[in-house]
Amino acid sequence: MRNARRVVVLLALCAVAACRRPSPPAAEPVIDALKAEEREVGLTYAESLGRPVFAHYCATCHGDAGKGDGQNASNLTPPPPDFTASKVMADAGYVRRVIVEGSAALGRSPLSPPWGRTLTPQQVDYLILYCQALAKKK
Ligand code: HEC
Repeated sequence: MRNARRVVVLLALCAVAACRRPSPPAAEPVIDALKAEEREVGLTYAESLGRPVFAHYCATCHGDAGKGDGQNASNLTPPPPDFTASKVMADAGYVRRVIVEGSAALGRSPLSPPWGRTLTPQQVDYLILYCQALAKKK
């Protein structure tokens, strides 16, 4: 009698084990956070990689959204342009030269510094995409 009861309990345990749902795939918190941020601000993955670079090196003059309203903008003549109103932002080659060689290299004021020795070519690529994304925002 006792043995029969043991067999029933054992069978029940096996059935429970067999019916368990497969565990969900492991969470990827960093990837999820990146994707969420991308969706939130409407950026592609490559554009979103330019965002922290811009925040670090450019926003103090250009403003977080590239509107020319950074905390240092009022000290500058000419002031940093509003990217959304700019006519040059669609020209990636021009934007690259401003970033790498500085605005003076394009016959403008020396106020946008040359970053060619500070930033890697990869960072510059991401920055161009991000600046162009800002310029397209309303
Ligand atoms: C010290 C302030 C300052 C910093 C820092 C700065 N800029 Fe500028 N930037 C300016 C000013 C001022 C101008 C306008 C220069 C002129 O017209 O003579 C400008 C112009 C530009 C332009 C040309 C836009 C147009 O419509 O003509 C681009 C592109 C640009 N900056 C990108 C950047 C990026 C990217 C960074 C960061 C890597 C950066 N700048 C950092 C002040 C700054």
